[in-house]
Amino acid sequence: MNKRKLGNSNVELPVIGLGCMGMSGGVYGNADRKESIATIHAAMEAGISLLDTGDFYLSGHNEMLVAEALQGKKREDAFIAVKFGVMRDPQGGFTGIDGRPEAVKNFLAMTLQRLNTDYIDLYQPARLDPNVPIEETIGAISDMVQAGYVRNIGLSEVGVDTIRRAHAVHPISWLQIEYSLFSRGIEQKILPVLRELGISLNPYGVLDRGLLSGKWTKERAVKPGDFRESSPRLRKGNLERNLELVEKLRKVAEERGVNVAQLAIAWVIGQGQDILPLIGARKQTQLEDALYAAEIDLSGAEVEVISTLFHPDEVAGDRYDEHQMALLDSEK
Ligand SMILES: NC(=O)c1ccc[n+]([C@@H]2O[C@H](COP(=O)([O-])OP(=O)(O)OC[C@H]3O[C@@H](n4cnc5c(N)ncnc54)[C@H](OP(=O)(O)O)[C@@H]3O)[C@@H](O)[C@H]2O)c1
Repeated sequence: MNKRKLGNSNVELPVIGLGCMGMSGGVYGNADRKESIATIHAAMEAGISLLDTGDFYLSGHNEMLVAEALQGKKREDAFIAVKFGVMRDPQGGFTGIDGRPEAVKNFLAMTLQRLNTDYIDLYQPARLDPNVPIEETIGAISDMVQAGYVRNIGLSEVGVDTIRRAHAVHPISWLQIEYSLFSRGIEQKILPVLRELGISLNPYGVLDRGLLSGKWTKERAVKPGDFRESSPRLRKGNLERNLELVEKLRKVAEERGVNVAQLAIAWVIGQGQDILPLIGARKQTQLEDALYAAEIDLSGAEVEVISTLFHPDEVAGDRYDEHQMALLDSEK
């Protein structure tokens, strides 16, 4: 698999990384443990070393799942990215964000145990804690870099002011943020600042949680407990409009001899050498689309045609519900 440089570092990563969130229940409905581990193994065999997790994905479950998948493998064969800072109650409910320096060290200590490792390749606050200056949160992670527990620092869903302030404390390697044909808000302000500072972009939601996969239908019911129940883009009225946009993409995909999911992933990959997209495959069949997409070399002209297929304003509904949008520094 082709590799790309991580930020200003000497680290090279495969062009796509595997997001493991959906492999724990509580986000996209039930997950299949055996299939999840088989998917991680298939991804690693195909050269995908980057595995993205979070300590709050089913309250530690996701990290333990990744640890199980990595049993018997060499530690250096995986590049593990971990998000922290989101707090949960025993029912899995969201109770707040904690970016205090003492909390950073506490979260990290438990993550190292659950992942059965003595270092994390990339550590990042999942959301900005509005009550703690970003300098303090990044300063605490930087201390952990000095101590050898963390190798690289990332940010997630923050805006340009926070990016600049954090980068002044310690070099930031990537910004993890939603980016897809349906979510293009970063193109105006955030992406230019990342490029100015030499920070990679680590997009997630490349398939808009499945809506952009070409396999989502009007008839597909979102089961209770699936995060997508609250998605404005899947609400009645919005869903029909959004699926019409997917049909425009399907036409181009068919002309290119690929499917919609493959084209949507290839479009993100085609946005620049500084882009390291995460794919949210949780089944081996879904992974196959992503592996195929990583081999598609879209020309600049093709990328342009797809970029202008529909105006981003035509997408109906925000990327998160009102409550979750309010937590995003990147949207302020
Ligand atoms: N920093 C953040 O705030 C943040 C937020 C969210 C996610 N993330 C990270 O980013 C990773 C990827 O994000 P994501 O999972 O939300 O995005 P995604 O890739 O847009 O969506 C994943 C969902 O799309 C469906 N899917 C995936 N591949 C498919 C294919 N080839 N064909 C049809 N359907 C397919 C699956 O749903 P079904 O199996 O239900 O069909 C899957 O659960 C996560 O695992 C996590 O590590 C970060």
